[in-house]
Amino acid sequence: MTDAQPDHPPVCDFRSDTVTRPTPAMRQAMAEAVVGDDVLGDDPTVLELQEEVARLLGTEAALFVPTGSQGNQIAAHIHARPGQEIACGANAHTYDWEMAGLAAISGLQARTLPAELGRIDIDAAREALHPAGGHRPACLLLTTENTHNFHGGAVVPLEHLQALRAVASDVGARVHLDGARLWNAAVASGVSLADYAATADSVMVCLSKGLGAPIGSVLCGTSAFIEEAHDVRKMLGGGMRQVGVLAAPGLIAVRDQRERLVDDHARAARLAEGFQQAEGIELPYGTPETNIVFVRAAGREAKQLEGALAEAGVLAFATGPDVLRFVTHYDVDDAMVERAIEAFLAAV
Ligand SMILES: Cc1ncc(COP(=O)(O)O)c(C=O)c1O
Repeated sequence: MTDAQPDHPPVCDFRSDTVTRPTPAMRQAMAEAVVGDDVLGDDPTVLELQEEVARLLGTEAALFVPTGSQGNQIAAHIHARPGQEIACGANAHTYDWEMAGLAAISGLQARTLPAELGRIDIDAAREALHPAGGHRPACLLLTTENTHNFHGGAVVPLEHLQALRAVASDVGARVHLDGARLWNAAVASGVSLADYAATADSVMVCLSKGLGAPIGSVLCGTSAFIEEAHDVRKMLGGGMRQVGVLAAPGLIAVRDQRERLVDDHARAARLAEGFQQAEGIELPYGTPETNIVFVRAAGREAKQLEGALAEAGVLAFATGPDVLRFVTHYDVDDAMVERAIEAFLAAV
């Protein structure tokens, strides 16, 4: 724990990097934020955040949205029409974890493609993306994800994203990048946020994950795209009023919290190393590159392990019959990592 958190619970919470609480500096910034009606475009703190994130990602414009899911869904709604397809990796967050929003909100059929360590197969993308014709609907939208949450926080290499982009461009397809943890990818790889962003027509980044803001994501793209996104956000009930109180901690997140993600990555690597001391333990996605560790305990029920760990004050997330996910973040320190390793070794 980097800052004193008065209400911090006496548990080590590795369920997600979304569990972080706002830092004292964030809470103060919330109290002091200058605000206006953001639906009317009048909130100076929101405008400052949008400009800052657009500058970081090298896009023309940006829009503050309440959640990453909403950002992804707005992008899909703009880039494709009902009755068309969207191509994405088989374990993409936007397909697997957003309540079938692609179908329910935008009338899209998802075409999932093989993707190892978050890298969507290039030949499969080439085959999937095409205009409408004969009996087949148009599939002119590809969603990439970096880092890839359900592939162990894997960093998708820039060259791979560029190759996918080229395949999409060949048929006039658009690309949306789900960059909920693009900050982690940039810190781990040394590739700039702007270089990653240049591989897509729109990018969504989250403030509320490793960067520790209490809420919020930012959708980035061209000015025309963001103008449309403003209207779709309103349609989805995401038009917010004096929301500078929530953009203020987001500004602190993007300005002060990015560099420290290396600590989260080092702690994830330590967790993985510690877990492997037990017999029969496998890391399905290999040694973590960023802040997410998946661990398979063959022959053990993940739900039962999750319960045993919770009794020891360590919270993790069972993601499969025998697989647990641990995520490191701002509210996890070295002592908690050691406690988690100890509890895991005792439980398996
Ligand atoms: C890769 C990815 N995309 C999108 C989201 C959605 O973010 P939110 O929970 O803010 O809707 C998440 C959430 O964990 C995520 O991991």
